Amino acid sequence: MASPHRIAITPGDGIGPEVIDQAIECLTLLRDRFQLDLDWDVFGWPSHQWHKTHGEIMPEDALEQLRAFDAILLGALGDPGPLKDPNRYLLPDSISLAPLLQMRKGFDQWVCERPARLLPGARQYLADERAKDIDMLVIRENSEGEYVAQGGRLRPGSEDEVATQMEVFTRRATDRIIRYGFEQARSRARARAEAGQTRQFETIDGRTCESQVCIITKRNALRYWGDLYTEAFEAIAAEYPDVATHHELVDAACMKFVQCPWAFDVVVASNLQGDILTDLAAVLSGGMGVAPSCNLNPDDPTMPSMFEPTHGSAPDIAGQGLADPTAMLFTTARMLQWLASDGDGKLQSAADALYEAMAADLAENGGERRPTRVVGEAVRNRIQA
Ligand code: IPM
Ligand code: MN
Repeated sequence: MASPHRIAITPGDGIGPEVIDQAIECLTLLRDRFQLDLDWDVFGWPSHQWHKTHGEIMPEDALEQLRAFDAILLGALGDPGPLKDPNRYLLPDSISLAPLLQMRKGFDQWVCERPARLLPGARQYLADERAKDIDMLVIRENSEGEYVAQGGRLRPGSEDEVATQMEVFTRRATDRIIRYGFEQARSRARARAEAGQTRQFETIDGRTCESQVCIITKRNALRYWGDLYTEAFEAIAAEYPDVATHHELVDAACMKFVQCPWAFDVVVASNLQGDILTDLAAVLSGGMGVAPSCNLNPDDPTMPSMFEPTHGSAPDIAGQGLADPTAMLFTTARMLQWLASDGDGKLQSAADALYEAMAADLAENGGERRPTRVVGEAVRNRIQA
């Protein structure tokens, strides 16, 4: 990664600009405090506002422009809100959300990481005491599957209309996401060991491992890619005898995410199934207001990875300064950690400082509804203390 590290900030729509403002103020503080070699440019696109003025959601060369950056920090895309304004400039999802998918595809951000850990102070939706121990990393395949956008509509508008939507699964993309899952399981086990913690997962042959990968499919109905996933999983699992393995059908996984989410460690799922499971996982770990997400290209450092909260543009509360910036700020901490992976110790310290300030703020004030700015200021005060 080049120095200085360069970030493209795309606030987007709805609450996006409001939570991004807090991220920018935190980055400004961290840059001063840790003398970070960090720069950023803020873009007015993609957004409804840009579309209203320019007739397109983003410029034609948007991806080329973004390519020059090391990371993209994205607020939210979609309905700009507020909902009570019936005359707000509204675009179909297929236009307003397309940039998200174009960035993921265009920069081959094939990993979507969505950690779901119930931190102290976060809202615990499950009554069971053991829900306190929820700590899973859901890894969503982010490059293909149900999201390849292949298909079409035949005889539109007629009674004989046909819609087709193709799902595509390649061995290459399947292998790489599964291998990534096993590597994450190992590194999580290592981090736990360093922190003096341990978790135990049983294998089918009765052994106990420190980590686990659960693969999700719907192979009882979608057998072709289900079998491909199963075979790839078994082959790669053989290289990781220290990691317990598990398979769940996606419908049963939804049930078990609610029944016993503490039994999961790393979960690997297809693009669409991962999308659905991570909304559920977000709620299990405190709700959309706290759930971070990132879209990574782990192989090619010349391609920017993209960091965005799991939540959307929340048009119901947009423009009121009420959105919780916690998810955005956790996401920002993850971005700094990612940028630090080239060995930049200052960036790593800044990432840790932001994460720790966020966790401490959540622990102390998580139960309260606070305006966007108040949360951001509390976090910055902690970083400065
Ligand atoms: C997400 C969102 C997107 C997705 C939409 C907005 C296209 O739901 O990031 O989870 O389905 O990937
Ligand atoms: Mn989603």
